[in-house]
Amino acid sequence: MCGIVGAVAQRNIVPILLEGLKRLEYRGYDSCGVAVNNNGLKRARSVARVAELQEQVARTEFEGNTGIAHTRWATHGAPATNNAHPHFSTKDGEQRIGLVHNGIIENYEEIRTELKALGYVFESQTDTEAIAHLVNHMYDGDLLRTVQKVVKRLHGAFAIAVFAKDEPQRIVGARLGCPLIVGLGDGENFLASDAMALAGSTDQIVYLEEGDVVDVRLDGVQIYDKLDLPVERRAQTVQAYSGAIELGPYRHYMQKEIFEQPRAISDTLEGVLGFTPELFGPKAEAVFNDIDSVLILACGTSYYSGMTARYWLESLAGLPTSVEIASEYRYRKPAVNPNTLVVVISQSGETADTLAALKYAQELGHKHSLAICNVGTSAMVRETELSYLTRAGAEIGVASTKAFTTQLTALFLLTATLAKMRGRMDAEAEAFHLKNLRHLPNALQSVLALEPHIIAWSEAFARKEHALFLGRGLHYPIALEGALKLKEISYIHAEAYPAGELKHGPLALVTEDMPVVTVAPNDTLIEKLKSNMQEVRARGGQLYVFADGDSQMHSSEGIHVIRLPEHYGLLSPILHVVTLQLLAYHTALARGTDVDKPRNLAKSVTVE
Ligand code: F6R
Repeated sequence: MCGIVGAVAQRNIVPILLEGLKRLEYRGYDSCGVAVNNNGLKRARSVARVAELQEQVARTEFEGNTGIAHTRWATHGAPATNNAHPHFSTKDGEQRIGLVHNGIIENYEEIRTELKALGYVFESQTDTEAIAHLVNHMYDGDLLRTVQKVVKRLHGAFAIAVFAKDEPQRIVGARLGCPLIVGLGDGENFLASDAMALAGSTDQIVYLEEGDVVDVRLDGVQIYDKLDLPVERRAQTVQAYSGAIELGPYRHYMQKEIFEQPRAISDTLEGVLGFTPELFGPKAEAVFNDIDSVLILACGTSYYSGMTARYWLESLAGLPTSVEIASEYRYRKPAVNPNTLVVVISQSGETADTLAALKYAQELGHKHSLAICNVGTSAMVRETELSYLTRAGAEIGVASTKAFTTQLTALFLLTATLAKMRGRMDAEAEAFHLKNLRHLPNALQSVLALEPHIIAWSEAFARKEHALFLGRGLHYPIALEGALKLKEISYIHAEAYPAGELKHGPLALVTEDMPVVTVAPNDTLIEKLKSNMQEVRARGGQLYVFADGDSQMHSSEGIHVIRLPEHYGLLSPILHVVTLQLLAYHTALARGTDVDKPRNLAKSVTVE
């Protein structure tokens, strides 16, 4: 996490850096800071948001044509000014080195002890300051050469941008395990964690590879690989979604992104004329013919889309499927079947645990991998043999919404393609599923139209401190996702259970103060679910039920029902989750939380 921007130009780059930070705030917003190298190093830091930093800078003469900036998600040390980046390192009373960092340095304590013994004074609790002092200590007048030596001493994951007082108009960047891109301008050049930070300044983007070090100057950039050899990395034209940061008529990005789902799904389905392996890449046919099972690796919301897909993959395609939380998988010793298709699911494509789990699976001998991802240039897409890009567009709200429903859409395409190749889907069934997929954007519009009814419920929820979510079968992962959405943005403690598990423990929690949200599609489990609902009512629990229009469920005492359009079969989770997103959003709004930037969180979790 954390966002980095750097620029070397002939104009004052402070507004560019601050604008870039605003666009990177999704990566962390515990504190932020900016530094320039303008006849000496100068910096401004804030423990509030970038808007406050902008005000601070406007009050002083803060200008420069070489600068670095950072927005922080705290790992080592509290979100305090002294821990905010950029970090400076001083020698003989002079501030010589400025540095920003994203990632975690595992051996920072050892470096810190060594440098303290040499007289370096640490002002923060961060691992970052150790790198700044190490650069200073090893500095030999050539920043590039120094950084190349310094990175060899660092263990862990990092992206850094560093400048030296004595070398104006030069920034050196390096990455290992965290993203860093180079932006090529006309007589000016940039560094950033994400191309979006540079929208409006340049669309010519170079993605640095693992172990790269880059020398950024006014008249050009030179990249060196992990062996310190100069390398050419191709620049790509990246349409850096500047439109994505316009809120339009919405109050929050999360609300905007919820309402973008019909468009996001229809974009994700663009060009899909049938369930053919080519959708997943030129090698997909051979790979799909070679596999006999699926292993899904992901985190958070993306993990729940994987859990949903398991029901599809097993029932439609007949493929044994396991779904694992990436941070668990990467540290256990699993039994390996090399004919398994490893599927990683990620909005960002940079989530450290998912990326590490993918690499681990590959090291263990898994030959085949596929990424379902929203960022085509991400590490995960680069590291996998096959991919399917969701076209949700930039997701800025920290709580994932449109990424989830587009992942489900892509996973259904994968399932249907595998089912067809395995002789389990005939032409009639294919046409039926294609028609349903194509109709999804319209069906979603009808679900979004339920917003006023959900707002009415959210007022009751806003007064609660706990909530239970129930679902069964395909909709159990949807209940999990609903509970995650509610807890992360409203801070209400929410838990989800498969409804059949209630009586094995959680029923003890049910009182009249406990709202119980029930995802109740009109599927084969509906009668079982109704019995579970009775168990709740008998204990005085208040039920909030999302039912389908064609089911026989009506509001009565203690049972509140909102009806979705008619039951949508296997694709029903994609509709039901939208009601839960809206419930979480409006409950958070009623509680006055910072919906797009919930406390302690960040988007794109690039640290372990
Ligand atoms: C929750 C949320 C997170 C992410 C998780 C994985 O709303 O957004 O749980 O789903 O951090 O992120 P990606 O999908 O980028 O790998």
